[in-house]
Amino acid sequence: MADAAGDPVSGAAPGDLVETFRAATARLAAGVCVVSAARRRGGSTADHAMTVTSFVPVSLYPPMALFCVHAEARMREVLDDVDTWAVSVLDARAGHAAEWLATPGRPTIGQLGPVAHHRGVASGAALLDGAQAWVECRTAWIRPAGDHDVVVGEVVSAQVAPGARGALVHRLGRLAPLPD
Ligand SMILES: Cc1cc2nc3c(=O)[nH]c(=O)nc-3n(C[C@H](O)[C@H](O)[C@H](O)COP(=O)(O)O)c2cc1C
Repeated sequence: MADAAGDPVSGAAPGDLVETFRAATARLAAGVCVVSAARRRGGSTADHAMTVTSFVPVSLYPPMALFCVHAEARMREVLDDVDTWAVSVLDARAGHAAEWLATPGRPTIGQLGPVAHHRGVASGAALLDGAQAWVECRTAWIRPAGDHDVVVGEVVSAQVAPGARGALVHRLGRLAPLPD
């Protein structure tokens, strides 16, 4: 643990901890997902979506899962207006969609136009066709954790796409396909 004198194990000064933490976690091979939600306002529906690597299954009995959302991400505000959201577990072909849905400043309206998708029955949210599985959740609770909020959901639907599709992983700042 770092204190005012620095970390006795790594020798890192407190100011270096963020960078060494970033470098350490960059070595995680993380599965890439897209979180999506459909926000209804004034008779119209807007699809929101963003790339995440923070999706984690939490519990089987009952099925629960979480992801972490930056407090300033547009999805965070959307979560105050919707009860349900969806996670597409991206497949090996979905690198372009993952990059696009992590691009700052992309338009909210129509951001899923270039991304093939269908709609989840349980959540109404967009499910990306370039996925190996889909999970739909109802928000159980949201708690702040530093600059992110932890979003825990009860799983209301889960589906595995048929056929081998491989996975998309993120490591050392790069997206890479992982074959089955
Ligand atoms: C591989 C990868 C993983 C990401 N994981 C997360 C995540 O878990 N949580 C998060 O808030 N942002 C994450 N981001 C960043 C968001 O995708 C990005 O900031 C996005 O533009 C946020 O949506 P917004 O622009 O509509 O606010 C990730 C980006 C990439 C490229």
